Amino acid sequence: NEIYLQGLADQVPPFTTDATRLAAAAEAVMEPGPFGYVAGGAGSGDTVRANRAAFERWRIVPRMLTGATTRDLSTTVLGTAMPAPVLLAPVGVQGIVHPEGELAVARAAAALDVPIVLSTASSYPLEDVAAVGGPRWFQLYWPNEPEVCASLLRRAKAAGYTALVVTLDTWTLAWRPRDLDHAYLPFLRASGVANAFTDPAFRAGLEKSPEEDQAMAILRWVSLFTGTDKRWDQLPFLREHWDGPIVLKGIQHPDDARRAADAGMDGIIVSNHGGRQVDGALAALDALPEIATAVGDRLEILFDSGIRTGADVIKALALGAKAVLLGRPYIYALALAGEQGVRHTLRSLLADLDLTLALSGHQTPATLTPNTLHRT
Ligand code: FNR
Repeated sequence: NEIYLQGLADQVPPFTTDATRLAAAAEAVMEPGPFGYVAGGAGSGDTVRANRAAFERWRIVPRMLTGATTRDLSTTVLGTAMPAPVLLAPVGVQGIVHPEGELAVARAAAALDVPIVLSTASSYPLEDVAAVGGPRWFQLYWPNEPEVCASLLRRAKAAGYTALVVTLDTWTLAWRPRDLDHAYLPFLRASGVANAFTDPAFRAGLEKSPEEDQAMAILRWVSLFTGTDKRWDQLPFLREHWDGPIVLKGIQHPDDARRAADAGMDGIIVSNHGGRQVDGALAALDALPEIATAVGDRLEILFDSGIRTGADVIKALALGAKAVLLGRPYIYALALAGEQGVRHTLRSLLADLDLTLALSGHQTPATLTPNTLHRT
């Protein structure tokens, strides 16, 4: 309503609410290297496309006369209250997109009470982002050195991050032709290293400080965070060093979901990293139903990879997710208009979700089930 009323006064929004045109608008203002890094996927881009195509195969079957004129979308996931079942996915190196990076995103999210999941590879130290306020979780890239890992977790806890998201699918970076074409990797240009460079355990492993010898510090960063060898039997280490909920991100097989539950994890994120890791991997949405059947009653299931509209959120919730995470769209919004841009895109998604849920005949997400959908 607000947008239409503003239209009467000839005020139109700063940029489009349509996801496809949003990406095009961002491409027009971004450098090719950073844009390719954000938009790109692994290999041929097959899984990026598959993520979207999967949503189109599921159709919502709207119900009538259900009293959905009044609604409540609020929910609580792993102790964190949120206005709708939507969080911002961990996206590293936001400084390549906008000078205020994660600070701008955190401000926009906090204003709406939407939780952020801050990446290990953020462009600002996790303490600075925490100082913005707002609900927040911390995403861990699990480093090779236990002391650095424990130190990052200690800092995140002290800074008020309430849940830990451990990303398992990116223990090394995938074959990404767009980045290869541009010879562009943000980490090698010291983007996304802020949490490490400010970390006492990381600095202790250097002969000279990162300020004195950036190249050596970057090499240490690369050796800590790529090619990491982690196994299921190492999960107790995280329990020992993190007092709070733990969520494993990047689960795509029901057996891995069962192992997560067996290991006492509190949640999983069904995700293929937005198609950025395994070219030819199944669409994340297609992995969801079987995983929900396998572990839906044992831990919290979250979902990302391909969420662009309110309808997409409804489909993921109907197939068993408790909440979803939004990736690339908020980064494009950040590129276009900083904090205000992220706020615009986030508010638009929440309004779209609210309306689409209502017109589908639901007062709350709780009544969404696989029966809400028809598969074509
Ligand atoms: C990511 N993603 C990601 N995930 C993570 O756990 N830690 C990280 O640092 C990053 N960094 C990152 C950078 C960029 C540029 C993108 C696009 C993605 C993956 C992210 O959390 C999420 O899984 C996907 O973005 C979801 O897919 P969509 O919504 O982008 O299709």
